[in-house]
Amino acid sequence: MATTGRFSYDELFSKDMPASPPSPFPTAKYDFAVAYPDPDTIPLEGLVDSLRTALDREGRDLAYYPDAAGLLSLRQLVAKKLARDRGMTVDPDHVVMTSGSSEAIGMLIQALTDPGDTVLTEEYVYLGTLRQLRRYGVNVVGVACDDGGIVPEALEETLADLRGRDSVVKFLYTIPTFQNPLGWTMSLERRKAVLEITGDHGVPVFEDDCYVDLRFEGEDVASFHSMDGAGRVIYVGSFSKILAPGMRMGYMVAPPEVLHRALSGRPGGGPSQFSALAIEEYLKHNMYSHIAEENEALRVKRDAMLASLGESFGSSARWNAPEGGLYVWLRLPEGADLAAVQAQAMAEGVAYYNGSQFSPEGKGVNCARLCFGHPSAETVYDGIAELARVLDCHGALGG
Ligand SMILES: Cc1ncc(COP(=O)(O)O)c(C=O)c1O
Repeated sequence: MATTGRFSYDELFSKDMPASPPSPFPTAKYDFAVAYPDPDTIPLEGLVDSLRTALDREGRDLAYYPDAAGLLSLRQLVAKKLARDRGMTVDPDHVVMTSGSSEAIGMLIQALTDPGDTVLTEEYVYLGTLRQLRRYGVNVVGVACDDGGIVPEALEETLADLRGRDSVVKFLYTIPTFQNPLGWTMSLERRKAVLEITGDHGVPVFEDDCYVDLRFEGEDVASFHSMDGAGRVIYVGSFSKILAPGMRMGYMVAPPEVLHRALSGRPGGGPSQFSALAIEEYLKHNMYSHIAEENEALRVKRDAMLASLGESFGSSARWNAPEGGLYVWLRLPEGADLAAVQAQAMAEGVAYYNGSQFSPEGKGVNCARLCFGHPSAETVYDGIAELARVLDCHGALGG
């Protein structure tokens, strides 16, 4: 019998599922919210040529479902890159390719947590991870940070506080290099201290290193993974930041037993073989020249943002000067409310995320993450002046 009217799913939805998907897209004239690369830096011609070469050679293999761990030659390239750039000794069999590193993060959260478990993060944390942790019912606890990264005493205290509670601490999730959203890089001393403290408490470290290649100044700091001899560090990386998020390619490195669990929960096969072929062929010839070009463009934009912040905010705010990555963290005086004017600023053409969106505890409304990756340097410069004007006009500067 035909039904009339529109069928309603309202009573059928999972209670844990958010009502709408997160999908920001650059719509503001001055968009500092989105963490996208500059479309002009995507090496389109090189990717097209590489795809053609790879398809001529291996295109018939698209008739088969790919290896669940992803294209072997790309995993070998990842293992080689991690040895060269991050001092990591990794067997390609212990690398699993994923549809962006967000899939890896989701798979690992699924493999390692149950509702009610605790995961430690930095004081402010990448929104995507925060959402996934909440989605799985995890109790997320932010650990205090300063410009050198996680504060060891705070970590020790947090872990001591949690000891003996019902909730098991499953891991510490950290973005130690060009942290999202804070922009700093954790010092070597801090990394060693964090590794030691978590070791004392038997807690694994989940190292999200997706920005590490975007260094335009200063020296690399050793990865957590390279300092761990016990298989206690799980590592994820991404090609979104050095190529393009639209390619959807990331990876995870973990002990085999963790990878097996993570893979067993993944629906469908590995990530797109089509993407994997193009990426592997392109990067094996062009990785470092492309990264150098991209980083030069980012440095110019970072400088434009810092110059404009100095001119427009002067001593009424504080911010950091990142040596790489995509983010500057703006701090206005206590009392400033960047959450309250965010929608209005967007309506007036300036987009940002306020600090509370990255905080497990919802604090930080006087802060904002400003991303300089997507707009041109000129737009970055003008946009910061406009941000200061809009905040001032709506009485949001605090102080
Ligand atoms: C810290 C961090 N990890 C992971 C991701 C996910 O990136 P993707 O899934 O595109 O690899 C992002 C994206 O912005 C990020 O900032």
